[in-house]
Order: sequence, then structure tokens, then C-alpha cells
Amino acid sequence: MNPLKPKVRRYESLPSTNNEVARLAALGAEEGLAVIAEEQTAGRGRLQRTWISPKGAGLYFSILLRPEISVDRWPLITFIAALSVSDALLEACGLDTDIKWPNDLLAGERKICGILAEVIDTPMGRGIVLGIGINLTKEAFPPELLSTATSVAEAIGRPSEREAVLSALVNALSRWYVLLHENDGPEKVLADWTSRSSYASGKLVNVVNGDEKVSGITRGLEADGALRLETDTGLISLRAGDVVSVRSSG
Ligand code: BTN
Repeated sequence: MNPLKPKVRRYESLPSTNNEVARLAALGAEEGLAVIAEEQTAGRGRLQRTWISPKGAGLYFSILLRPEISVDRWPLITFIAALSVSDALLEACGLDTDIKWPNDLLAGERKICGILAEVIDTPMGRGIVLGIGINLTKEAFPPELLSTATSVAEAIGRPSEREAVLSALVNALSRWYVLLHENDGPEKVLADWTSRSSYASGKLVNVVNGDEKVSGITRGLEADGALRLETDTGLISLRAGDVVSVRSSG
């Protein structure tokens, strides 16, 4: 593969940086095209949720990828995104984060970053729009989420430098993306992800997907990133849902 060379386009305001990258991809944009916006007026989250994106309060970033790995490994793109944000926040802000399956970044058990990867079809073939939203200040989310969300500024006790976070993020993504394409890349990605996630193993959780809820103890990941869960009725693998921690377990 060719190395990833992100080229960032900056906007004052967009409905959604993911939508803008998808629009440019449909016009033939190359891998590495990246977009950031000061604000999003229709930011989107996982599971059809809204991602509130007030001006200057977050890093709203999307990038176009055209992975050359087998499609069954494409879910690992969100895992390298989580690892990249983890690297970037440590490097740019000295902030240690936890990763909650499938790809939320947490600081002090509260969400600081969300990741939305969307598969798109373009004239140049199938691709992925990888969107990342990092809460930089507490204005990034509504006050009613204060018990479950946090921001970089709150976590480090001082304002964060958006440009430093962006530059560290772009570098980290490029590194992880190259690694993912190596023969033993997927195994390394999963191993690193697992070592940085307190949720990967031995955690008693509820996993909610629509109207369904399943409880169990986390038991690591499948090769495609699915979460193994030991339930009362046996070991199952989950590929979608929201994880809520109940308490730590052995
Ligand atoms: C989640 O639900 O946790 C994922 C949130 C992803 C938000 C980011 S912000 C940049 C990009 N543009 C969007 O509309 N969504 C993603």
C-alpha cells in the first residue's frame, strides 16, 4: 500500500464533516482527504444519534480511507481510530484514556471522544469515511450529559491546543493505518487495543442494542473486533451495541 498522506481541508461550518468527505469522495477525492469544521450543524453519532457540535468546543474531523485489507477486517478501522486518539491525547495533552468497546474514548469513566466509520461506494471503489469527534471543552455536550461525558480541558485542568491534538491525531492515524496493512497488523492492533481497554476482559457489563439487552463478563475480542461475552447461557460474540459497565469482575 501507499503510505497515508492526510490532506486537511478546513471549514467554518458544515452540516457534518462525514457528509462532506462522502460528497467529495463521490466526486473522486483520493484516500487521505480530511475535513475539519469549527462547528457542525447536523453532526451524526453512532446508532442514528445526533452529535452536538458547537462552535470551537470540539475537534470535528473526518478522513477518507480506501483500505487494502480484506473486507472482514474493515471493522478494525475503528479500532485504529481509537488507538490513534489515545496516542494523540497522550502526546498532545499528556492525557491517559481508556477505550470502551467498540470505540469510545473515556477519561475518568466519562466519554471524551466518539468515532463513526461509514462504508461508502464511490466511482473509485468502496471506501470508508472515518469520523472522529473529540470534546475539547465542556460546551461540546449538553449539561445533562455531565455525569457521562467530559472534555479534554476538564480532564487536564487547562485548555487544550486543538492544532496540537489535530497534528498528533493525523500522525498517529497514518502510523496505525500502515501497521494495519502489514501481515501481522490486525493481531498487533487487537493486542494493543486490548491492553489499553479496561473493558476488554473481566468486566461485568450490560450491552444494549435497540430493545435488546444482554449481560455478561467481557472475555476479549474476536479477530474481526467482535466482543466476546460470557453470559449465563454461554459465550457469545457481539458486533453492535452500547456497553455499560456494571462493576468490575474477576
Ligand atoms: C459516537 O456516536 O460516539 C460517534 C460520534 C462521531 C462524531 C464525529 S464528529 C466528526 C464526524 N462528523 C459527524 O457527523 N460525526 C463524526
